[in-house]
Amino acid sequence: MVAKSSPIIIIGGGAFGLSTALHLTQNGYTNISVFEKDTQIPPRSSAANDLNKIVRAEYEDPFYTDLTIKAIATWKTALFAPHFHQTGFLHCVSGNAPAKAIATLKRFQESAERHPQIQPHVVPLTDKTAIRELCWQYDGQFPGWNGYLNRFDGYAHSANALKAVYHATQAAGVRFFLGQHGDVAEVVYENGTSRGIRTSSGRFHAAELVIVAVGAAAAKIVPEVGDQVVAKSWSVAHVHLTDEETSALRGIPITYARDLGFFFEPDPKTNLLKLCPMGGGYLNTDPRTGVSHVPEGLASSAFMPLDDELQVRRLLQHTLPALAERPLVQKWLCWFADTSDSDFIIDYVPNTSSSVVLLSGDSGHGFKMFPIVGSWVKDLLEGPQRQQPIARWRWKSQKGQTKANWGGDVSWRLGESKEFKDIQPNKPKL
Ligand SMILES: Cc1cc2nc3c(=O)[nH]c(=O)nc-3n(C[C@H](O)[C@H](O)[C@H](O)COP(=O)(O)OP(=O)(O)OC[C@H]3O[C@@H](n4cnc5c(N)ncnc54)[C@H](O)[C@@H]3O)c2cc1C
Ligand SMILES: *[C@@H]1O[C@H](CO)[C@@H](O)[C@H](O)[C@H]1NC(C)=O
Ligand SMILES: *[C@@H]1O[C@H](CO)[C@@H](O)[C@H](O)[C@H]1NC(C)=O
Ligand SMILES: *[C@@H]1O[C@H](CO)[C@@H](O)[C@H](O)[C@H]1NC(C)=O
Repeated sequence: MVAKSSPIIIIGGGAFGLSTALHLTQNGYTNISVFEKDTQIPPRSSAANDLNKIVRAEYEDPFYTDLTIKAIATWKTALFAPHFHQTGFLHCVSGNAPAKAIATLKRFQESAERHPQIQPHVVPLTDKTAIRELCWQYDGQFPGWNGYLNRFDGYAHSANALKAVYHATQAAGVRFFLGQHGDVAEVVYENGTSRGIRTSSGRFHAAELVIVAVGAAAAKIVPEVGDQVVAKSWSVAHVHLTDEETSALRGIPITYARDLGFFFEPDPKTNLLKLCPMGGGYLNTDPRTGVSHVPEGLASSAFMPLDDELQVRRLLQHTLPALAERPLVQKWLCWFADTSDSDFIIDYVPNTSSSVVLLSGDSGHGFKMFPIVGSWVKDLLEGPQRQQPIARWRWKSQKGQTKANWGGDVSWRLGESKEFKDIQPNKPKL
């Protein structure tokens, strides 16, 4: 067991790393340093550097439902409450949804209606009239839409939540190394045990425990992870509203058609209404190794593929048709760490004498857990075993995944993954 005064290094100042810094300081660990390669927190390369993320409690799997209920209770405490907005979650399919999407929606709805704490907040909705009665701001035709509204759920302003925890942990004595001082090149080992890290500028920093929380970059810092975790992305875009439009849409629920995508209440500071299409996402597979990595530089990910754009416009056409032809701004591909079963990895790296912990595999649904992720790391460090007791969060043995259906069995994913190189926007002709 690592002593509370031992030097601990956390690599990555995103959602998992900051939550870990918070919980470890709150539990008496006194020598914690966070290394983050961006010059700022919220880091621009964090999947959580975003206006909002869905915080919905109902999962198809009760294990995650119970965790989210705990997370939501913590979202309502002083540090997190300014960043949590319980607007409700309108969760539907449109009339054109494939059978897989309809079946998934049903399982989510059953999960919400089965849970005694969530159930009182759930209203089933069978058609346009029922939806527009509860969501009066919408004037779209909602063709074939049906599903439910869950008022237990909401969203978090994820970039601002990261910033709040950054300030809180800094005030509690956590040291932050940012930019070139925080860009970690490797974990340094001696006789199979980590001694610390080396930054890309060559500087060594000693630690008794290294916690790797670099999101989609996991395979760069812990190459042994192989294809247990791959970098995957989904696209994001926004409509820039007027003050009046933003104000008129205040309080709308997160609005999600499983076959199209989703959007959020507009952000009152920036007047941006954020849109995400739902689909299989994009990989950037290295053909030599079969492992997908985050492409270099933020600029190469600053676009939305055309098919995604058509899809989010269809979503607006169904709900808020006046916005359907507006320009889309601040488009980007958001990279996260995906696992084939959608379970997180919160475990020691094998063969390191318990000197390295990997936090990854958020699988695109980890931000809602931001207030409590660090408590899982504390439990791991203080537990009796040198292995994650929760089997689904263990280091996964490599079972020779077949690339063709990698992750395709996760029910809530719809559509095939494409390769980053095949979705490049058309370059202007010279
Ligand atoms: C489009 C999209 C929508 C999403 N929507 C939701 C949602 O609605 N609800 C939800 O719960 N979750 C959602 N997520 C998932 C959520 O964003 C992630 O689960 C969460 O951000 C994962 O946190 P992380 O700390 O593992 O990774 P990140 O937040 O990405 O942080 C990793 C950090 O490591 C840093 N780093 C990388 N390499 C190095 C290095 N070598 N040295 C130092 N630092 C390094 C990066 O700069 C980054 O800041 C979404 C993700 C995407 C992409
Ligand atoms: C934290 O650990 C580092 C590395 O061992 C050491 O140099 C530093 O003095 C320690 N700081 C405190 C406050 O104990
Ligand atoms: C690593 O192993 C070598 C060779 O057995 C030994 O000389 C050295 O002291 C060891 N280093 C540590 C830090 O244990
Ligand atoms: C750990 O070491 C054992 C024994 O040498 C080896 O079989 C195993 O593959 C190693 N695991 C990893 C993840 O490197």
